[in-house]
Amino acid sequence: MSHLIYILNGPNLNLLGQREPELYGTQTLKDIEENCFEIAKANKLQVKFLQSNAEHKLIDWIHGAREEAFGLIINPAAFSHTSIAILDALTLFEGPIIEVHISNIHKREPFRHQSYVSQKATAVIAGFGIEGYNIALNKMVQFFYQKGLVFYIN
Ligand code: DQA
Repeated sequence: MSHLIYILNGPNLNLLGQREPELYGTQTLKDIEENCFEIAKANKLQVKFLQSNAEHKLIDWIHGAREEAFGLIINPAAFSHTSIAILDALTLFEGPIIEVHISNIHKREPFRHQSYVSQKATAVIAGFGIEGYNIALNKMVQFFYQKGLVFYIN
């Protein structure tokens, strides 16, 4: 089985740290990446950590994950609320998918309450700040090593 987990990040997340810190905090995407690499290393897994502002790149990476990854963590950012194309790509991915949002999208504007990605995600984490990525990756570790209950995968 592949030891690789993809962690994909959508538009504007490259500006974390500068972008609306009252909502998204002051830490950067690099900080998130470093935390994820640490968790992966401690658990003998590998991580591919990617960000793009372009929908087609995220779709191509999801196709790549289909070929080589055990699981996929994705913060689709604003594409969560708009992209049927990303949902369609995720539908082709057979492993566990965890959708992460730094903010609690359900507490925000009504247009953020709906996520296409959630229709395919195994689980959704929202509102824990950047800690949500650590939670998601630790869950992937559990799924990978089949620790705990895994009946809810897909
Ligand atoms: C976000 C929430 C989205 O609504 C928003 O468009 C983002 C970030 C989050 O992580 O809280 O860009 O996905």
